Amino acid sequence: MIFPFLPHNHRIKKTGKTRSTRLSRTKSAAPHEQPTDVRLGRLVRLLMEHATVVVSGTKIAQEISSNRTEVWRLIQQLRGLGVDVAGHPATGYQLKSVPDLLLPEILGPLVRGTIFDNQLHHFYKIGSTNTAAMAAAAEGAPEGSVFLAEEQTAGRGRGSNSWESERSAGVYCSVVLRPALPPSDVLVITLAAGLAVRAALVQVEPRVTVDLKWPNDVLIKGKKVCGILAEMHAEVMRVRHIVVGIGLNVNQKSFPKEIENEATSLRMETGSECSRVEVAAALLKSLDGEYRALVEQPDAQKPILRRFAEQSSWARGKKVYIEDSAPRIEGTTEGLDAQGFLQVRTAQGLQRILSGTVRAK
Ligand code: BTN
Repeated sequence: MIFPFLPHNHRIKKTGKTRSTRLSRTKSAAPHEQPTDVRLGRLVRLLMEHATVVVSGTKIAQEISSNRTEVWRLIQQLRGLGVDVAGHPATGYQLKSVPDLLLPEILGPLVRGTIFDNQLHHFYKIGSTNTAAMAAAAEGAPEGSVFLAEEQTAGRGRGSNSWESERSAGVYCSVVLRPALPPSDVLVITLAAGLAVRAALVQVEPRVTVDLKWPNDVLIKGKKVCGILAEMHAEVMRVRHIVVGIGLNVNQKSFPKEIENEATSLRMETGSECSRVEVAAALLKSLDGEYRALVEQPDAQKPILRRFAEQSSWARGKKVYIEDSAPRIEGTTEGLDAQGFLQVRTAQGLQRILSGTVRAK
């Protein structure tokens, strides 16, 4: 089985030691698409274990099976990710605060017992975690594989949109799922993902009121705080795999002009910085709960549709139009049908919305 992004994956650059011969198969990936250097995680763990003391470069090099020059390079990478590390090669190094990085060494212990346990794959920088997850899934990546990045250079949104993915500001995460469901049931999984995001946000930051807009937008005060991009590989009757990509705006202080009226972040809403690790852990745990219920409980779809309709101010009684619909669809929302499609009462009757962006009229 060729498995380009897995399993021992934490590399940034092809220097020094590799932990798996299979890593050499990452040759088609650009250097910045390589999984994060496994030693970066070990270095962070070591510094966290010795948080109150200065750790010499020699000791670090010994502990992470590297040399002092590489240790210095890794320290510089950590600093580039916003981690406050004091010191230099001559004195040794010390962490000044707990690093808010989505490394498996930090996030992993927080998602024990979930379908994502031991399945976290971290990238310092990548084009798109969804693209990586789809490629890995096509090569056989198991259900529950998670692809996380500190930064995306070609983050993808729904339609032909891109996704703004500033380094270490948001949570950019894609998970591989393999439900034994027909493709027609997949919409419900993406609605469940929205419910999971909402629950995670409210848990981490109870001060915010989070709304859901069909099918996959998560909003605070009408602005988008999270987008979900679900991609699927399926046969007519059977899903092979789904990748659910979640982009959550956490600590952005601002957004580019083109989207500043539409996008927001937790930090912009609350005025305080939020732990991305905490957000990512809450998200994965919540997603685990929703997904297990969906695939393990008979008739689990109904409560998901009911809860979505309850938690979304857009699902019922909202005057909307569907962007780029031809002929134009406009009317008042009237709940979700049994498969999760939005229903809109128009002058021509009740219409089922299969795709498109819903906008307030
Ligand atoms: C939307 O348009 O609302 C969906 C945005 C989805 C963005 C996320 S970020 C992680 C994953 N990787 C991508 O390239 N896209 C998704």
